[in-house]
Amino acid sequence: MDGQEEDGLELLRSYAHGFMVSQVLFTSCQLGVFDTLAQAPLHAATLATRLGCSLTGTRRLLDACVALRLLSLDARERWCMMGGRMDGWKGGWIGLSTHPGRYANTDMAATYLTSDGPKSQRDMMLYLAQTPYQLWAHLGHAVREGRNQYLRAFGTPSDDLFAAIYRADEEREAFHRALEATWRLEGRRVLTAFDLSAFPVICDLGGGRGALARVCASVYPRCRVSVLDAPDVLRGAPTPRRVRLRTGDFFRDALPRADLFLLARVLHDWPDAACQALLRRLRAALRPGGGVLLVEAFPPSRARAARVALRMLSLNMLLQTEGRERAPRQYRRLLAAAGFAHARLARPPASSAGLYGALLATTAGPRP
Ligand SMILES: C[S@@+](CC[C@H](N)C(=O)[O-])C[C@H]1O[C@@H](n2cnc3c(N)ncnc32)[C@H](O)[C@@H]1O
Repeated sequence: MDGQEEDGLELLRSYAHGFMVSQVLFTSCQLGVFDTLAQAPLHAATLATRLGCSLTGTRRLLDACVALRLLSLDARERWCMMGGRMDGWKGGWIGLSTHPGRYANTDMAATYLTSDGPKSQRDMMLYLAQTPYQLWAHLGHAVREGRNQYLRAFGTPSDDLFAAIYRADEEREAFHRALEATWRLEGRRVLTAFDLSAFPVICDLGGGRGALARVCASVYPRCRVSVLDAPDVLRGAPTPRRVRLRTGDFFRDALPRADLFLLARVLHDWPDAACQALLRRLRAALRPGGGVLLVEAFPPSRARAARVALRMLSLNMLLQTEGRERAPRQYRRLLAAAGFAHARLARPPASSAGLYGALLATTAGPRP
């Protein structure tokens, strides 16, 4: 095999093992490996006892985490010196995981995978482990049928999309916790990509429990910020500081008065016709100079990893929604057809790992 073939094989192998890698990550989060190690580095046996798991399984999981750079192993203790004869082996250094080393979170795990960190993505991992993971087992059916797979994966009909997504209270909670994790990392950047202070009244439609709206209110303290979402989502949700929560159906009910509507990860749930209908309603509700800020997955166009992520997300939309990820030009077309003009795009910086960008479109006329 020449170098190119070797590279190809290595890449293929990494793709084939991708599901195993995901499971190591998900299982470690579910079992509480990173949270437990956040308190102190531990030997495998101690950790196994704390987690209530077998030593043999824990050790293999931890060693897989070390290989994936999620954990580190105390370097001085990593290799075991073996002396004497053992099955014909004459002694020397061996690297099997019979060592007594202590495992610790790497910086990556400490930052993103523990529960308490300000950048924690653990809730996203827990949701991916539970819902999308099961849906992805039905990718073949989704491709053949061109539709989501709630019925096959969970026995839930999906004629009403969000009734399927929110099929149980715990499921709705897990979904929103996962989504909120994104805005800890990307909320401020997407909201400051354009100066929104020119829009005194801002309403985040389909804004969940207000995670992005809370960022908006802190970045633009002079603006009045509200969220509109379904009653089930907002029932019992704590009101974020300086954000008003309203219940309603953005397809049917009268829309609140606003100078700017945020639509973050909303249009990607729906087919073009529904997006058109919603954008037309927004256009009709806005005064001249009012706007809509679409926040969607618009990764830096040249970053290969981000482009791959976008393709995976679009398949995930097939499995989980009625919509798809769209390129900015496709959103521009939808916006123009609904009567919006001047759509300006802000992607994350090419050097960042950011995935979400913003497309700001306004109606003709002076700003409010
Ligand atoms: C994918 S989530 C995005 C949530 C939030 N904007 C974010 O980015 O984290 C879509 C949101 O739209 C809300 N939604 C769906 N249909 C709706 C409707 N007809 N009226 C109001 N909200 C709706 C859902 O409850 C959910 O919170």
